[in-house]
Amino acid sequence: MTGGAAGGLPEGAGVPRVRPRRLRTTPALRRMVAETSLEARQLVLPVFVREGISEPVPIDSMPGVVQHSRDSLRRAAAEAAELGLGGLMLFGVPEHKDAVGSGATDPDGVLNRAITDVVGEVGESLTVMSDLCLDEFTDHGHCGVLTPDGRVDNDATLVRYAEMARAHAAAGVDMVGPSGMMDGQVAVVRAALDGAGHTDVSVLAYSAKYASAFFGPFREAVGSTLQGDRRTYQQDPGNAVEGVREARLDVAEGADLVMVKPALGYLDVLRRVRDAVEVPVAAYNVSGEYAMVEAAAERGWIDREAAILETLTSIRRAGADVVLTYWAAKAARLLTRG
Ligand code: PBG
Repeated sequence: MTGGAAGGLPEGAGVPRVRPRRLRTTPALRRMVAETSLEARQLVLPVFVREGISEPVPIDSMPGVVQHSRDSLRRAAAEAAELGLGGLMLFGVPEHKDAVGSGATDPDGVLNRAITDVVGEVGESLTVMSDLCLDEFTDHGHCGVLTPDGRVDNDATLVRYAEMARAHAAAGVDMVGPSGMMDGQVAVVRAALDGAGHTDVSVLAYSAKYASAFFGPFREAVGSTLQGDRRTYQQDPGNAVEGVREARLDVAEGADLVMVKPALGYLDVLRRVRDAVEVPVAAYNVSGEYAMVEAAAERGWIDREAAILETLTSIRRAGADVVLTYWAAKAARLLTRG
């Protein structure tokens, strides 16, 4: 065999005329042609606030994440505003739980007080969001109330969600996130808000939310003791068309944003939803996704900072306008460092 023009190339192959590598030559060029941006304003930090503690309590399965006290939550909120994050998503961990999740609608309940605290701290510099769901507040750990024979009662749960929506709005929240996957929840929450005069409070619908093993560490974070599983309301991980249907329904019911959750195993669903609706789309980079990277990094098996930025960039590339992530503050710092 005789060599090609470039010395050693097989005869007939020719010297490559089209060279995609050219655009990867320098950092400046790579930056100029980058298709996907990642900015602090697109990131939302989920935070946990626990009733009855005066110091933050670390969450073992989520290294670096804590259950906040009222004071430490205020400090975290101020820091998030300083970093230019898009918002905070608040989760409450009550001291007492019961069958109907009474703490969720108590104006002095942990979540409602936290909303007022955080809004008082950051004003309009951050979007303050609240998880609108009963699972943190029920003793059985389900996202709704139960029938006498132990099933999750959709319509009785909607009544509780309407009460929660009014309580969060009265506490000053900017945006509520109904996350319980009950049918009709967005319409009911929207009507409850409007009926109480809170027409400006927006709704981030957890639209395509799957019955996922990747919520595991979250259960520790909120001290949940779930009996059974959530498969009668959260979606089957194999269903993508159904995820799009749920998102379209939520938009029709008045959702201002829709969300896909978890993120990494569902990037195809995220892309389909992004293409199907005309509202901003969020994705939730969930506790198990966080824990996997943190655990591997702790063992030195993965470059933590690179893995964080790659994860968040991939979620953005797949179609998320907004990303909820426990790395929000960390990522914002990495991004400003450049
Ligand atoms: C429901 C809710 C859950 C998460 C967010 N909202 C738990 C669940 O549905 O089982 C999980 C978030 C995470 O894993 O990071 N209130």
